[in-house]
Amino acid sequence: MKINGEHYRTIWVNETDAKVIQIIDQRYLPHKFVIEDLKSVDEVVTSIKDMHVRGAGLIGATAGYGMYLAALEAAKEPSFDGYLSRTSEKLLASRPTAVNLSWAVEKQLATIKQGVTVEDKIALGFKTAQHIADSDANCCQKIGQHGLEVIEAINQKKRGGTVNILTHCNAGWLAFVDYGSALSPIYAAFDAGIDIHVWVDETRPRNQGASLTAWELGQHQVPHTIIADNVGGHLMQHGMVDMVIVGSDRTTYTGDVANKIGTYLKALAAKDNSVPFYAALPSSTIDWEMEDGIKEIPIEERSAEEVKYISGFHEGEIKKVLLAPEKSKAMNFGFDITPARLVTNIITERGICNANKTSILEMFPEKKTDG
Ligand code: MRU
Repeated sequence: MKINGEHYRTIWVNETDAKVIQIIDQRYLPHKFVIEDLKSVDEVVTSIKDMHVRGAGLIGATAGYGMYLAALEAAKEPSFDGYLSRTSEKLLASRPTAVNLSWAVEKQLATIKQGVTVEDKIALGFKTAQHIADSDANCCQKIGQHGLEVIEAINQKKRGGTVNILTHCNAGWLAFVDYGSALSPIYAAFDAGIDIHVWVDETRPRNQGASLTAWELGQHQVPHTIIADNVGGHLMQHGMVDMVIVGSDRTTYTGDVANKIGTYLKALAAKDNSVPFYAALPSSTIDWEMEDGIKEIPIEERSAEEVKYISGFHEGEIKKVLLAPEKSKAMNFGFDITPARLVTNIITERGICNANKTSILEMFPEKKTDG
């Protein structure tokens, strides 16, 4: 993706020092463009926990590089394997909901183990981290091409009229290594010359929509309007939304979709108003073990401070101000589950399928087990 005309990914290896991983520190967007160097596993853990990086795909890619840094550190420890396993636990505990994190850590553990010498292990860790990042970008690009067909069809049905798309949170290229999941079809449609407009949910409490999605869409010149989180239902009742598209942090193989808190309410409103509701996700986001999203997917609970305080840009600085009575209790669930029955279709790198076990396993037959 381009920022002020220059191509960037959200994470990359420093050109002159391969022991340094660089990220866009998303805490400062849209106000400041800050690049942060990550030189140790502890810095990687902090960057995930405190949301310098965020979004399922990018969390996975960052964890992949974290494991490579762990292998570099392990080389100086008495037990390489012991150190690697301890640091993998730290990474796994950094954020619970996005399954891409454990997917990437487990992939790294299995691959690094195959190295005979410490040098081999480090080289394998590096190669796998790069592969995780490249394949994330690749999958997201394909999601864009498949999702484009959906937008094209709506545009044709409207005889070339504007396609109004509602999205929640940020599932754009900032949430992945490049392209994004939910926003990838939007960029593809815009590039294909389709008349589109995006309703951007602000996405309280961290405001990923208002700050990140709006910034990304603006960088690509995609027409968009930021709305408060409660507006979507009203827009749908008045025929102002043609489709909803969101990303996912974990999707069961039966089609239940975990995504940023508030997504479920949008899906309910979409169902009530016959607006199609799509979840776009690379297969690294599918949990092949979990069957019942509501019962099984761990929902992150973050600090109540994120609800009671709001931050913004004032006089050149990011400032935090208190919104609520200081003594009031607040609660901050990060995600909710949209049950499969509310999801029209899932868009993956292999194509579009229904949100159910049969259709998902038909698209990924290698995941079929005998049971
Ligand atoms: O808490 P975040 O910002 O990491 O939120 C996760 C997400 O980015 C969203 O839920 C997104 O819609 C899923 S797609 C990566």
